[in-house]
Amino acid sequence: MLVGIISDTHDHLPLVRAAVGFFNSHGAELVLHAGDFISPFVIPELAQCTMPVVGVFGNNDGDRALLLAKCAETGNVSIRGSFAEVDAGGFLIGLVHGHEKELLGSLVRSCAFDCIVHGHTHEAGSYRVGEMLVVNPGEACGYLSGSATLALLDTEERSARIVRL
Ligand code: NI
Repeated sequence: MLVGIISDTHDHLPLVRAAVGFFNSHGAELVLHAGDFISPFVIPELAQCTMPVVGVFGNNDGDRALLLAKCAETGNVSIRGSFAEVDAGGFLIGLVHGHEKELLGSLVRSCAFDCIVHGHTHEAGSYRVGEMLVVNPGEACGYLSGSATLALLDTEERSARIVRL
């Protein structure tokens, strides 16, 4: 299964639309958003994905009630709180924003998942801890690095590649 991964969209609608277009045209069956959506108006844009979108809150997601209300208006976008355990066809993914370093470190050390997905640092990359993959898709908004990125995870190959938008 191909899983699209995005984080830190920070209200950049043109790049959110570009990311949605990428996921829709590259066979992603599931999209994960690692938080920092910011404004509720981004949710209907993410709902243009043709597959389910599962997210978690980031430290900059202020109006959580309205974000959840907007998700409820869609048929395919959900925000699961601060952490989501996602079963992608038997491949278990832990999804967290990553601003709480102790929590992220403990999740990574646990090796209780096939993959941990997080964002927050705005730095794209992936690495392995034993068999477990850790993926940070970087920032979809491109504000801090000047480079807007996302990731595509192949659960059969147990690998992820960073894609520049
Ligand atoms: Ni953050």
